[in-house]
Amino acid sequence: MEIIILKNAEDVAAMGGELVTELLRVSPAAVLGLATGGTQLALYRTLVAKHRAGEVSFRDTTSFNLDEYLGITADNPQSYRAYMKREFFDHIDIDQRNTFLPECVEGQNPVLVGSGYEQQIRDAGGIALQVLGIGGNGHIGFNEPSSSLNSRTRVKTLTRQTFEDNSRLFSGNELQPTLAITMGIASIMDARRILLLATGENKAEAVGKMVEGPVTAMCPASILQMHERVTVLLDEAAAGRLKNRDYYDWTHLQNESLKDRFGRSHES
Ligand code: GLP
Repeated sequence: MEIIILKNAEDVAAMGGELVTELLRVSPAAVLGLATGGTQLALYRTLVAKHRAGEVSFRDTTSFNLDEYLGITADNPQSYRAYMKREFFDHIDIDQRNTFLPECVEGQNPVLVGSGYEQQIRDAGGIALQVLGIGGNGHIGFNEPSSSLNSRTRVKTLTRQTFEDNSRLFSGNELQPTLAITMGIASIMDARRILLLATGENKAEAVGKMVEGPVTAMCPASILQMHERVTVLLDEAAAGRLKNRDYYDWTHLQNESLKDRFGRSHES
């Protein structure tokens, strides 16, 4: 894993935005894996600003989101489709017909959505870069602790902790779903590159387990230790529990100088 610790959430979003932009400059038709959640809002703001400044185009890009709630419709403002439109898609030049989420429309069998979604991703050529956040309990997508490390896109029940963590985003009279359809852990691991963003002290414990703990289904993000190309962008607060902090900083410096000389990142 390449661990990069930055001063604050703003710097995390700026570097995340730069990495996405670099990829699209080289491969304008790259397939992006996208995530929702509070952490990613700053990333989308950065990418929208870069798009407005003419630094990046999404015209030829296809995107697949990690997850979507089950039990609310796409036009519900709480759906992840609505989030993606509001925060990102409506402000860039992506063709929204090329934006996909594991949505279950009225009359569809949710159990069958997963395999269809996996096929769509394969048909698009697979995900070049998957953006991820991390839950306070170490989840990625909605793969909660105890999810199979070999799981594929499917229906998942949210844990009480995730339900409560996300309840801040729902007002009293809004229905908060307890189910979601999420890419599986193996689906996420198929991405050719992974970019995980984590900010704030409430992520420090999960980040510590992901990076330095054992690989275990009880911390789904720990599987990323087995992926050959993962970049983890952290702010100081989210990095607060890392024991090997000095080594990550030292590696980052070395890597920057290698990049200056040879033009690409050499760490993972
Ligand atoms: C949500 C999403 C995840 C996200 C995580 C963290 O429930 N399903 O994809 O990474 O929880 O969200 P936040 O960035 O709001 O802390």
